[in-house]
Amino acid sequence: MDSTHGNGRAASRTAVLVCQGRAVADGRTATGRFADPVAVRLLRPAERAVVDAVRAGTPPQGWQARTGYESVRACAEVAVPRTVAIDEALRERADGQLVVLGAGLDTRAWRLAALAGTDVWEVDHPASQQDKRRRLADAEVRPVARSVRFTPVDFAVDDLGAALAAAGHDAAAPTTWLWEGVVPYLTRDQVRATLAALTARSAPGSTLVLNYQAPSAAATAGRLLTRLLRNSITAGEPWRSRWRPERMAALLAEHGLRTRSDRDLLTLARSLDTPVATRASLRSGRVAVAELA
Ligand SMILES: C[S@@+](CC[C@H](N)C(=O)[O-])C[C@H]1O[C@@H](n2cnc3c(N)ncnc32)[C@H](O)[C@@H]1O
Repeated sequence: MDSTHGNGRAASRTAVLVCQGRAVADGRTATGRFADPVAVRLLRPAERAVVDAVRAGTPPQGWQARTGYESVRACAEVAVPRTVAIDEALRERADGQLVVLGAGLDTRAWRLAALAGTDVWEVDHPASQQDKRRRLADAEVRPVARSVRFTPVDFAVDDLGAALAAAGHDAAAPTTWLWEGVVPYLTRDQVRATLAALTARSAPGSTLVLNYQAPSAAATAGRLLTRLLRNSITAGEPWRSRWRPERMAALLAEHGLRTRSDRDLLTLARSLDTPVATRASLRSGRVAVAELA
């Protein structure tokens, strides 16, 4: 299936990987705190087969298939604490407007009952968004959020503010912004520009829920290794920026956002008693919550 957009860029493969990770963990890991029954429904048969293999603990033969299997297994470990931290932050603030930046195959608008009174804007690269809309149509899942508006934006070239205004987002009312699993794929300048655009549309009472990567030699080496093994999942989506927590807090402060919490995923995973074999990625992955000062 052709998943490229007019500009030639393909739909995000890492978005599929994260979705596979959540599908692996659903009903098995951190039950009661984590659930994503919608994730598996968005996957294509070959993508589901890897999920089934990981759930069954039956790694495939051949290094390439094995690398794909290990990527999904590791991603499940990271996805659980990340999802729990973000879901809990959103439940506390669910009301009004939620903008999901770089939504990928995020399922919250289709599964998080707390969003029943919330209008959701799903912002993503056009190619990724087109792919998601096809998957949603095929899966016939219905949103639980009050509304979902798809807003295609390439953070590298498009005007996020103008796109949201055209899609009916109200800059005069508070907004919860979710930015999960996207910052590493953007340059520092793109991160700054996106923050400037979102804070320009943030009324008092707005909140940013942010997932980003802190620098980690071990996590970088692991990612380089999977690229060297020509893992087609992550090959086309290199990491471009990592942020130390204090640098991120300073950047957010420059944009009028006060960091309320900033936790690493390893500590979160340990508190949930979930697997921590992927220690380097867990240690460097972080979820921060920042409020408009
Ligand atoms: C790893 S996925 C994360 C998806 C989702 N937020 C999640 O955590 O499951 C990265 C997402 O960032 C988006 N992305 C990366 N670069 C982008 C850009 N320049 N403009 C818009 N979206 C971008 C991709 O389309 C993809 O959906």
